[in-house]
Amino acid sequence: MSFSIKNICCIGAGFVGGPTMALMAEKCRNLIFNVVDINKQRIAEWNNKDFSKLPIYEPGLEEIIKKTRNKNLFFSTEIEDAIRSADLIFISVNTPTKTNGLGAGKSSDLKWVEASARQVAKFAEGHTIVVEKSTLPVRTAEVIESILNSTLSGLNKDKKTFSVLSNPEFLAEGTAIQDLENPDRVLIGGEDKEAMLLLSKIYKNWVPDNKILFTNIWSSELAKLTSNAFLAQRISSINSISAICEVTGADIREVSRAIGLDTRIGSKFLDSGPGFGGSCFKKDILNLVYLAEYFGLEEVAKFWEEVVHINIWNQKRIAKIVVKKLFGTISQKKIIILGFAFKANTNDTRESSAIKICKDLIEEGAELIIHDPKVNPIQIEADLKIKPKPLNNEASKTFLNSNSGSWRFSKDLNIFDGSHAILVLTEWEEYKNIDWNYVAKKMVKPAWLFDTRSVVNVELVKKSGINLWLIGDGGI
Ligand code: UDX
Ligand code: ADP
Repeated sequence: MSFSIKNICCIGAGFVGGPTMALMAEKCRNLIFNVVDINKQRIAEWNNKDFSKLPIYEPGLEEIIKKTRNKNLFFSTEIEDAIRSADLIFISVNTPTKTNGLGAGKSSDLKWVEASARQVAKFAEGHTIVVEKSTLPVRTAEVIESILNSTLSGLNKDKKTFSVLSNPEFLAEGTAIQDLENPDRVLIGGEDKEAMLLLSKIYKNWVPDNKILFTNIWSSELAKLTSNAFLAQRISSINSISAICEVTGADIREVSRAIGLDTRIGSKFLDSGPGFGGSCFKKDILNLVYLAEYFGLEEVAKFWEEVVHINIWNQKRIAKIVVKKLFGTISQKKIIILGFAFKANTNDTRESSAIKICKDLIEEGAELIIHDPKVNPIQIEADLKIKPKPLNNEASKTFLNSNSGSWRFSKDLNIFDGSHAILVLTEWEEYKNIDWNYVAKKMVKPAWLFDTRSVVNVELVKKSGINLWLIGDGGI
């Protein structure tokens, strides 16, 4: 084997590319990792001297970046140079669901993958292993391969060669570093055995042999979509049962525990909540639906599509319950939203249930105060597509004249004065320790607390006199 890997490039410094390369750089000190992105601001943030201002919040990430940045891990916008010097390139760019054209609303938009592949085709030198890391529809490797190969003609053909592999990432946000450090499995799909072995050699620096799986390229791509579809399906299943609990007097926590003890089912991913969010679940299921429809498997498509429908229904259901409990109207009522991220320990809001729920409440006229320890209010504004209510009194009066409600952000929890209700949407640790007795005194009576994440201490809330609605609890 004459070809060896020394320089690695990752195109895309996002939620996947950034943490993955950081962990790899920590584990493989003899390799150089160049993480490149077209987004100058994002790269500047990765290079920020203040390590607490990295663009992504992940427990443990800061410490790793401190150890590796500008040693064997580099963040830059010099895409061409990084491609030129790379022996192996991870493609880790965004692949959102298409908003228009063929497959709109279901299939992934591959324009960023295609642009990256074209850049690789143009600037790569010698032999290069190209690895798809982003979650991609099945048979994307084929697209990448055909773009790369189309540049190989005449003399060029002797100088440039490519091997395309699929190596999907299974990290979950909030536990990314833990997941990367101790993965359940590392999946490497491809046909070029030598390239597969070279990639596995990188992982073998910290992952045991028996956790590294070789498959063909399509199985690897489909396994990634299927993993996410199965996980999301468990959440839709438990959320549908949660609604049954609420009307029958059962308690979803007890039901989850009881079914999770069956080793065939297992106890993970059985927490009922406001609905799944995140960049992957919905997108991957819709990709699967598109694939099934494309091949004429209508029943299969309908089966998976229902997992997404139930999720949307669940988000709508929460907003409706709030309105119903507050006597059918929330117009001009102050409602505190605790948590906007799609899960705890991340600043990511993509597909967060909080977006839909907050929008519905604002539409009903509520005045929301949104708190989240990590999410930036600029991101909330972009997600809600509604400007925050101005702090200035005069400006806020005219603002209030509009029929719908409003929102405002708070970075502290000194926000309960005059509120009618509190809605817990993300399971941040700090919400577990709120002094409900103190909060109760500040709220308008009858005061309501809606806990969609089962984080509050039920006894303490009950003692405080605040009315409690707890997800999946029909016994309250
Ligand atoms: C997911 C997959 O877990 C990961 O393997 C893949 O690489 C990317 O997609 P992520 O979206 O980051 O990871 O987070 P995950 O922990 O899976 O949570 C997704 C959503 O499901 C969150 O909104 C979370 O709150 C929700 N969830 C999760 C529940 O509602 N209940 C649960 O029991 C678990
Ligand atoms: P993920 O969660 O999959 O990591 P993100 O949206 O967080 O997705 O990150 C993807 C990154 O890829 C973004 O920072 C985006 O600017 C970058 N990107 C997209 N296209 C290109 C490209 N052609 N070259 C370099 N970077 C790109």
